[in-house]
Amino acid sequence: MRTIPVSALTAALGSAWVFSSWAMTQPAPQAAVTAPARITVLYDAFGKDVAMTKDWGYAALLEINGKRILFDTGDDAAVLAKNVKAKGVDLTKLDFVVLSHRHSDHVSGLSYVLSVNPQVKIYAPKEGFSIFGSDLPSAFYRKDDSLPAAMRYYNGAPPETMKFGTLFPGANIQLIDKTTEVTPGVTLIALVSDTPGTRELKELSLAIDTPNGVVLVVGNALHDTYRVDFIAPGHCTGEPTFTALQKAFGDRYLYAGLGTTLSVGADPRAASIQDGARVLDDDDSRSYRTLLARSDDLREPSVAIVQLALLQ
Ligand SMILES: [Fe+2]
Repeated sequence: MRTIPVSALTAALGSAWVFSSWAMTQPAPQAAVTAPARITVLYDAFGKDVAMTKDWGYAALLEINGKRILFDTGDDAAVLAKNVKAKGVDLTKLDFVVLSHRHSDHVSGLSYVLSVNPQVKIYAPKEGFSIFGSDLPSAFYRKDDSLPAAMRYYNGAPPETMKFGTLFPGANIQLIDKTTEVTPGVTLIALVSDTPGTRELKELSLAIDTPNGVVLVVGNALHDTYRVDFIAPGHCTGEPTFTALQKAFGDRYLYAGLGTTLSVGADPRAASIQDGARVLDDDDSRSYRTLLARSDDLREPSVAIVQLALLQ
């Protein structure tokens, strides 16, 4: 198990795909690369694929190093089902699902995923009480031995570990509470939000070593320690941040709306340009604003796809 310097990845962006020159300083594992590495956005509130439905939420399929990973599941199972079909994605063939945090616009589509792939491995952040299920040592609550047994929780003899239920009974959920390399070259980074409104929200980001660097789907800002080569923001990032990032990154800003498939390689720009846009146009902005106004999502982490380079 290897530790990623997550302290360098703090604050500003909600979720971001990041490609980094990590691979220049640390050789990537010799994974069997059988197909072009790519990322497909399956759920977002902007995009140009008319066969798909724009909605507030986020989901993306990563096909990298021979792995197929679904990152988040969007807000509505029926919309996810439609979008998945439109892109010809086979959710019965997944290595695993990552749920970044417990908000409904990232989790509600899981019911569709489970309907086609009931035993798929799901990684979710561990919290004390959670829709994903959890457990706590019974020491978490204060005791008073002077009370009669009938007034005491569990008659004064609680189980050592108390288990709590999940909204997804029977699902193959593994809770993650610390940064963990779940399979060679694929690391889940456990973070805790420090954003007002979601403070203490547990989050998972995803880092994948590739021959061209590290792809990082991250819910936090990127410290100056990293030089971001490419960035493709989405979801809660917000229009003002889209604008600011576009100014900062120029042609290294990648458009990745609903339906966009980005190639993960030496130059991810090509796929973005093929999608016909570098930024949100008027139609995109209009639907994004409408869906944002309907959501209660203003304070949650944003989303982006980024390519990073380590400066040290
Ligand atoms: Fe969200």
